[in-house]
Amino acid sequence: MKGAVVFYSFSGNTRKTCVFLKEIVGTLGSRLDLIDLKLEKEVIPFFKQCLEAAMKKKPKLTEANYDLGVYDFIIFASPVWAFTYAPALRSYLKEVKGLENKAGACFLTVGSGAGSKKALKELESVLEKKKMKVFFSKNLSGAKTGDKAYLEWSFKRLLKSSLIDMKS
Ligand SMILES: Cc1cc2nc3c(=O)[nH]c(=O)nc-3n(C[C@H](O)[C@H](O)[C@H](O)COP(=O)(O)O)c2cc1C
Repeated sequence: MKGAVVFYSFSGNTRKTCVFLKEIVGTLGSRLDLIDLKLEKEVIPFFKQCLEAAMKKKPKLTEANYDLGVYDFIIFASPVWAFTYAPALRSYLKEVKGLENKAGACFLTVGSGAGSKKALKELESVLEKKKMKVFFSKNLSGAKTGDKAYLEWSFKRLLKSSLIDMKS
């Protein structure tokens, strides 16, 4: 059984969290591939990042695996940008295939938390429209993503679920 976590991370909080999940899922006997989304042209200025996110832009990504049909479970992750999820994930979700009837999860890493509930709901609803069964969703404090105890606590329900615990 294998899973994938598809994520975008600008300053590393979301990536750190995904690497933690990969390691811990490995110790549980399952495999989690990291699909780290990269923009062809990274936007650096904060205000431009906010604008692109708020305008729901879909910037070009470098090559990525868009067919997730081979995976048994899929997790999507992104930082919250301007009360929504990051444009790179929006671009990916437009093209992705193979989510139908797949069990999955999503999480966002946040700063102040402003708009994070709305952002999570929006992501969940996009995944559900693609017929994925979202059984776990959470907002995490980006500032705490270096804290393993916090991450273990945050993902307790996910890690104990039969989904991640599926042994081949
Ligand atoms: C352009 C931009 C916009 C952001 N907007 C929000 C926001 O609306 N709400 C919030 O709680 N945090 C916001 N943040 C903080 C990030 O969501 C948070 O720091 C996150 O953990 C960063 O993840 P990363 O290190 O994986 O890029 C924003 C950060 C950036 C760079």
